Amino acid sequence: MRCPRYVLGIETSCDETSCAVLRGRDEILSNVVSSSLFRHKKFGGVVPEIASRHCMEQIQCVFEEALREAKIKAADLDLIAVTRGPGLIGSLFVGVSFAKALAYQLKIPFVGVHHMEGHLVASLFGQVEPRLYVGLLVSGGHTILTFCEKGKIHVLGETVDDAVGEAYDKVAKLMGLGYPGGPVLDKLAKRGNPRAVHFTRPKQDKRFDFSFSGVKTAVLYKLRDPRTGQPNPEAPSRADMAASFQHAVIGWLVEKVIDACEFKGVSDIVVGGGVSANSYLREKLARDGAAKGIKVRFPPFSLSTDNAAMIARRGLELYARGVRSSYKMTADPGLALV
Ligand code: KG4
Ligand code: ZN
Repeated sequence: MRCPRYVLGIETSCDETSCAVLRGRDEILSNVVSSSLFRHKKFGGVVPEIASRHCMEQIQCVFEEALREAKIKAADLDLIAVTRGPGLIGSLFVGVSFAKALAYQLKIPFVGVHHMEGHLVASLFGQVEPRLYVGLLVSGGHTILTFCEKGKIHVLGETVDDAVGEAYDKVAKLMGLGYPGGPVLDKLAKRGNPRAVHFTRPKQDKRFDFSFSGVKTAVLYKLRDPRTGQPNPEAPSRADMAASFQHAVIGWLVEKVIDACEFKGVSDIVVGGGVSANSYLREKLARDGAAKGIKVRFPPFSLSTDNAAMIARRGLELYARGVRSSYKMTADPGLALV
């Protein structure tokens, strides 16, 4: 089997259209991302039809730009890796159809990739992958704790309701801060008192599961009277609310991921997904991990949110393990991790 030299990654699972070219596993020659975020802002969340239309309009020019930046031609490509799921069906469909058509035209193989597996490898570029590690996947749609052993991923636990990114987005909406909520709450939290508001830790039947819907309701009740729906005159300042919310949810995440390391006896953590951009998560997990002799890897900011470079890398890893996709492969909006 010839080792693929140039790999094209395609990512269209939600509101981003991205194509990337890797040379080998570690060298990112290009990673072009066209976001439709500006089109969704006024609706307070992603509108699936707008997202998929944007992907359809953008995919050809994003692909051409990725080749141009990488200084290669389409005929130089050896392998295509494409996000197969989970995500929005219309957006996924654009990327999967494009990948199949291109693979057919170029007579090269293609591999369907799980979006969250892509997030998991985003922090491993240029690094030696630890043989054993705990993976924390935190995005707008998922919160999953995994145990990874020689490239194989096992799910330890996940959220039973909202994802942590979703909780940020919903709380920001309640506070009138717009979409997406993560970056704005993260910034606002820096000016507030993290102990101004106490949030009760949710109780979980399973040790490594999460729950974030209760904290969102608690924020709502601090802002408005639950009986009348009128604004609460004693509501904390927006900065205090942001800081307290962030202190609570990141604290729960950090405790569980360190508990999982101790349970599994591993000393490496790999974090992926949009919420990995969070400044308090980065600071607290690195600090609390170091205190226990645990090394934490975060992706660079450019690879925290959705991008095709991480999909290309994961596709290449799967290909090296013998995985091939057939033309019967379809987009799967509910694709399970394992
Ligand atoms: O991985 P991603 O780009 O898309 C999905 O696969 O969902 O993650 C997007 C999520 C959004 O919920 C956004 O609010 C959150 O990541 N996010 C953050 C930060 N930056 C993005 N959450 C907290 N703090 C941030 N700095
Ligand atoms: Zn994502």
